[in-house]
Amino acid sequence: TVRFVLDCDTGSDDAVAIFAGVRHPGLELVAVTTVSGNVAIEHITDNTLRALDLAGADVPVYEGAARPLVRSDLPVPRRVLNKDSDFQKHGLGLPEAVSAKREGHAVEFLRDCFMDEANADLTLVATGPLTNVALALALEPRLASRIPRLVLMGGAHGNGNVTAAAEFNFWADPEAAEAVLSAGIRDVVIVPLDATHSAPLTAADCAAFESTTVGAAAADLVRHRLETDRSAQATAAAPVHDPMCLAYLAHPDLFTEAVEAHVSVETSGARTLGELLVDTRPWRPEPANATVALRASAAVYREFLREALT
Ligand code: BDR
Ligand code: CA
Repeated sequence: TVRFVLDCDTGSDDAVAIFAGVRHPGLELVAVTTVSGNVAIEHITDNTLRALDLAGADVPVYEGAARPLVRSDLPVPRRVLNKDSDFQKHGLGLPEAVSAKREGHAVEFLRDCFMDEANADLTLVATGPLTNVALALALEPRLASRIPRLVLMGGAHGNGNVTAAAEFNFWADPEAAEAVLSAGIRDVVIVPLDATHSAPLTAADCAAFESTTVGAAAADLVRHRLETDRSAQATAAAPVHDPMCLAYLAHPDLFTEAVEAHVSVETSGARTLGELLVDTRPWRPEPANATVALRASAAVYREFLREALT
């Protein structure tokens, strides 16, 4: 079993990741930390608790950063981007939560958890802006050598989804993304838009995992994405980004194309803020610091979701 902590900003695809992380027989979700991103932190934490309750999981939830690391503003107001924000502010269509968040800050929890020798095998999965992870590394720099593996959804090698250059999670807190990628964590796997868009889900996929309560809730969330995701309009297939990190934990053969690269994040470009730079030049000055997934097997991804949700 792969044990992991999930740091997320629960919107619809993070919620599907929570369902899959709780239910997949090969995975053990140890704790969830929340970070502001898709919507304000109180909605993110509420959505997270709703998703865990629906999945019947007694997993501790610690609330984290309400603001990006450096910026108090963003180059484009979030509300312009989030056509979806009403849905995300009202519980994602999930029943009200009965459980409550734990006392204590997510950043302190992450520090204590990964500094604990008993957790030397624990993977950190991040599916929101990297604010909490950056703050934990600032609080305790030794953490970089204590996190055995970081698997994150963020960035794009091709076009972004907020701007031509930037994907949402990196764009929402570019300084945090850069701090985390340059911290020296030994095993970093990036799941960018290139990978998630290579294996989008359709209405037929939803029907395939509808036979359980959790599967039906996941199917509703994916259908919502089919209706609202701009990239789904032309193709009738929607990228479901965040669960792909967990599919990789359970099926390390998920990615059919990946590169080792030196990666960094643009923190000052007028048009390129939040862009992921993937340097694969053989003569590049810096050594590789991440593996970047570029393409995923749609069959393996569907199989993972079926295993988890039915
Ligand atoms: C990422 O942005 C968020 O809206 C999704 O949950 C995902 O983590 C995709 O760009
Ligand atoms: Ca997310």
